[in-house]
Amino acid sequence: MNRHIAIVGFGRVGSALGYTLINKGLVSHLTIIDTNNVKATSHALDLRDALIALNQDVSISVNDTKDMLKADIIVVAIGPANITSLDRLDEFHSNKMGIQTLAETLRKAQYHGIVLNITNPCDVITQVLQAASGLPKSRVFGTGTTLDSLRLQRLLGEHLDLNPADIDGYMAGEHGDSQFVAWSPMRMAGVPAEQWNISDDDKVQIESDVMRSGAVIYNGKGCTEFGIGAMAASICQAIFYDSQKIYSLSVYDESAECYISHPTQVGKTGLGRRFTLKLNDKEQARFEQSAQIIRQYVAME
Ligand SMILES: NC(=O)c1ccc[n+]([C@@H]2O[C@H](COP(=O)([O-])OP(=O)(O)OC[C@H]3O[C@@H](n4cnc5c(N)ncnc54)[C@H](O)[C@@H]3O)[C@@H](O)[C@H]2O)c1
Repeated sequence: MNRHIAIVGFGRVGSALGYTLINKGLVSHLTIIDTNNVKATSHALDLRDALIALNQDVSISVNDTKDMLKADIIVVAIGPANITSLDRLDEFHSNKMGIQTLAETLRKAQYHGIVLNITNPCDVITQVLQAASGLPKSRVFGTGTTLDSLRLQRLLGEHLDLNPADIDGYMAGEHGDSQFVAWSPMRMAGVPAEQWNISDDDKVQIESDVMRSGAVIYNGKGCTEFGIGAMAASICQAIFYDSQKIYSLSVYDESAECYISHPTQVGKTGLGRRFTLKLNDKEQARFEQSAQIIRQYVAME
């Protein structure tokens, strides 16, 4: 079966995704796009070596825009030349120009496929990408708080001695510093989180640990790539298999008037049903504050 993915921005995140797609046999054709042609070409050579060892059959092209436009899915993982801040919003100005150029290319070609954005600030960049490309909102979305929600499952699983997969819980709001744990709608084994006797102090600590996770990894190794690469590969798989799986994706919210994370189904035509978490008043206020931050950055465009 022909499965074609283009990855724009083949740095640490893009290459981790590329390797995961190949290793899992999820792609038959991979297009690598990166402004650093030497790096992109070298990654392609390295992956072609890996293909033999992995017994996978994938054709790989490099910096071929026409080929990119034939892809079923374009994943955006452009990054700034150098950034020292850990606040994802600080990346906006350096990533914006590359995103607008890409959006213009997609608009002119009336790109037919699905665009999945990873580049930070994820919600803001996804909104800029959709608006400037003019592509339907159902086909342009971001990874949002999918990775943060995984971290929540991991940390809460450790705290409650549960398998992370058995925690039906989400980080809500912006993929950034204003995100928060949506405790009210969370369930484990069908039992609401509030009945699991998690103390207020522990709740504060778990939320803080989730939000510091990225910084802890970044401080230790200078990037975070495997978690997000694996997550993005899982979303691509859900698209190819039309699995209608639910992820906490950055999608357009008409009431909030911005892209922000909501549990949303994904399949071969893009987004499916979107679900609204039942938040309490305090959580709702945090959601609205988060949306306001995203809108402010979008308005800076
Ligand atoms: N959404 C998430 O959960 C999440 C998680 C981790 C990282 N990120 C984000 O992913 C992005 C990439 O991170 P990274 O660690 O891979 O950075 P990186 O610096 O390793 O890679 C970025 C790559 O993009 C390339 N690039 C820059 N501008 C380009 C353009 N206009 N067209 C094509 N290629 C271009 C660079 O040459 C580089 O190879 C960052 O914005 C980072 O914050 C998001």
